[in-house]
Parts: sequence; C-alpha cells; structure tokens
Amino acid sequence: MTMTMALQQRLAAARAAAAPRVTGRVSSVVGLSVTVAGVEGSVGDLVEIGPERVPAEVVSIDGDRLACLPLGPLTGIGADSPVRGTGGPLTIAVGEALRGRVLDGLGRPMDGGPALFGLDRVGVENDAPGALARGRVQQPLSLGVRALDTLVPCGRGQRVGIFAGSGVGKSSLMSMITRGTDAEISVIGLVGERGREVREFIENDLGPEGLARSVVVIATSDQPPLVRLRAGFVATRIAEYFRDGGADVLLLMDSLTRTAMAQREVGLSAGEPPATRGYPPSVFALLPRLLERAGPAPVGSITGLYTVLVEGDDHNEPIADAARSILDGHITLDRRLATSGHFPSIDVLESVSRVANAVTTREQRGDATALRRMLAAHRDVRELIEIGAYVAGTNPDADRARRLWTPINDFLRQDMDDVTPAPRAWTMLSAVLAGG
Ligand SMILES: Nc1ncnc2c1ncn2[C@@H]1O[C@H](COP(=O)(O)OP(=O)(O)OP(=O)(O)O)[C@@H](O)[C@H]1O
Ligand SMILES: [Mg+2]
Repeated sequence: MTMTMALQQRLAAARAAAAPRVTGRVSSVVGLSVTVAGVEGSVGDLVEIGPERVPAEVVSIDGDRLACLPLGPLTGIGADSPVRGTGGPLTIAVGEALRGRVLDGLGRPMDGGPALFGLDRVGVENDAPGALARGRVQQPLSLGVRALDTLVPCGRGQRVGIFAGSGVGKSSLMSMITRGTDAEISVIGLVGERGREVREFIENDLGPEGLARSVVVIATSDQPPLVRLRAGFVATRIAEYFRDGGADVLLLMDSLTRTAMAQREVGLSAGEPPATRGYPPSVFALLPRLLERAGPAPVGSITGLYTVLVEGDDHNEPIADAARSILDGHITLDRRLATSGHFPSIDVLESVSRVANAVTTREQRGDATALRRMLAAHRDVRELIEIGAYVAGTNPDADRARRLWTPINDFLRQDMDDVTPAPRAWTMLSAVLAGG
C-alpha cells in the first residue's frame, strides 16, 4: 500500500516537472479575448482560467502574453484570475462507445448517458489523407432520397454541398438522408443551429433507430464562437476515427456557413483584418482544412454533406463560392419549389454530382439524362405553357415531359418519412420513363 502511494507521489512529481510553466494570471479581458501573462503555450494550446477552470484556447502570442478565446462563459473572471496551462491542445475521447451518443462542441457527452471513460484521447486537428494516398470515388452511397440517388448520385468519399437560402429545407433534407442512407455510421455536426431545432432533430427526425447508428455533435448558436468552430472539427475527427476502422462514414454538417461565421468571430477577436464581406482571410484557409479531411482514404471513406446558407439567395456569396470550388458536387434547393409545397425542394437542373459517371451504370445514366432533358425542355417552355401560347409538337422533350408531368413529380417529391433505397429508385425511374 505504502509502496503504491510512494510510486504515485513520484509519478505526480515527475509529471509536474515535465509539464510547462502552468500558473499565470489574467492581465486583461477585451471583448471575447483574454490576455494572459506568465503561462507558456503555443497557438492552439488549451489553458484553464479562474477557479472554475474555464477552458480557453491560445489564438495569438505577443511576447510573453497569450491572447486566449474562451470555450465557456467568462462570468466571474477578472484581472489577476489564475490561469493554468495544460501543455497541449483540445483532445476528445474516441471509441466505439460513441455510437448513439450526443456530444457537445468539445466532444463531451450532453445526453445524460454514461461518462466516456477508458477511451483513447486524440487531438481534433488532423492531416487530410495525402492526395496520392486517397482512393477514388467509385462506389455509390445510397441516400434514400429518390431525386438525389438517381439524378445527383453520391459516391462513397464524395463531398457535397447543399446550397439554399434560409428556411428552404436544408435541415429537413439532411434528416431524411440520415434516416435513408445505407452508410454504416453517420456523424452529424449541428453548428450554430437554434436550440429548439436540435431537440426536434434528435427526437423526431433521427429517432432512436437513427440515433443508434449515429454520433451527434452539437454547438448551438448561443455557444461561444470557438466552441461552434471546434464542433465542426470534433465531428470530423470522430468521422475519421470510424473511417480508420474501415467504415464508410457519412459526415453531415449543418451548417458550414455557421462554422465559417464562427471562424470569422474568432479571427476578428484575434485581431485579423476583415476582408471579403467582413470575413477575415483565416475563414478561407479554414474551408479547405476542414473539407479536405473528408474523402476516400486507403481504408474506409468519409462522405461529407455540408449545408451552405446562401444569404438573400445570393449564390455568389463568398462562403458559398469558396465551398463550391472545393466540393465535388452541389445540391441546390429552390425557394419556389419549397413555397409551392414541392419537397424535397431540390432544383435538379441546378444540382451536379461530379462523380455521377463513376458511380452509375450506362443504363442508369441513360435514364437520368432522359429525365433531365425533359425537365430542362419543360423549364424552357414553362412560361409559354402558362400563358397558353405553347404549341404542342414544337419541342418533343417538352411534350413528353407534359405527358409524364404527374408521374415525374410523384417520383421527385418524397415525404419526409418515406425512405426509398437507391435500387428501388432506379426501378421507379424506369417505370416513369416507360409511361410515355
Ligand atoms: N420534406 C418536407 N415536407 C414537408 N415540409 C417540409 C419538408 N422539408 C421542409 N419542409 C418545410 O420547410 C420548413 C423549413 O425547412 P428547414 O428547417 O429544413 O429549412 P432550413 O433550410 O434548414 O432553414 P434554416 O435556414 O432556417 O436552417 C420546415 O419547417 C417545413 O415546414
Ligand atoms: Mg436548418
């Protein structure tokens, strides 16, 4: 007994000797930024402030002063509050035990379930698979949404953006996908969403079955910006853990825009200059750093679906623009479809999967092209049809679309709780086309 105690004491002494200088003081608090003196640390390291040990992250260094952004509420922290260095960056627990769990933006359980004891801890930053070590996107991943699986097919390891204005149906489409996909596990990052929606999402949309094969990471809009920012990395790191075990993981992030907005707040607090529409340069460095981590790897894959809010339905908004250039496909949702009650509100003609050819057969492509041609022809003559000026026979594709308009829309529309596996969707599409 004494032996163990002596050993423990020696171990504690050794740990203390090896750790960096740990105690310092708060010297000033301006806005969100806490300046600390007397603690050694590098950018990205975690410190703990005050008696409540509020975690904060070092974001910039000036001489022996560290500027830190808090990962918790700053109440009760003032000049001279003690600060403890932890000697390293934020880590999270990863393991099979994460399946079915709901975590906060720092990877801690928030579902009242058991603590995550005995799991490995890993840093949230990680390297993306090397360009040449990456596999190619060749296997389809069924999402359970007919319009997507046939017309905007998704491959294992693909990264796709869901672009839409507010309230057009991004989150609803995401919840359809979490229930409909055949991915072994989904990691869902809810960043900057309203608290009310989160509960609805977990209890109604995901349900116990969906949750059992998911891990949910949540940082609602009331969380400090750094927690919202980290949530995206935590979700990505957890997806990487399951991928490294050989799984084809589906990573859903709602929303990428709010993650970028969190980086904007962090960057501005750290003294960066605002550039494009108030976004500092670090925002544009963040996007590839985060998005490149999804993709096919030598073992397993991460298929990434990221919602992108296009403000004022302006599709050239800088975040949407930057995301589009990195991603391998985009799904565009259309407000007019949503207001007319056409859900999911996917604008098929404005949605593209850059891997469609690699993940479909020749027959499937033929059917998809036939439907796309009809939709395009119908769009071209729609105004003429509406004013009664269209003369039948002018455009054969448009005529065919008009004959098949009801079955086409029955195919494209899908109730929230209706899951159609991809093979069934292809059969349904052939049946629609056979009708005329
Ligand atoms: N498949 C659907 N069936 C019926 N109604 C739907 C469907 N999808 C979306 N809606 C309607 O559209 C509304 C907005 O959808 P949703 O919350 O998914 O949009 P959003 O783009 O995520 O919005 P925000 O930008 O506010 O996050 C929902 O409240 C719902 O009424
Ligand atoms: Mg939403």
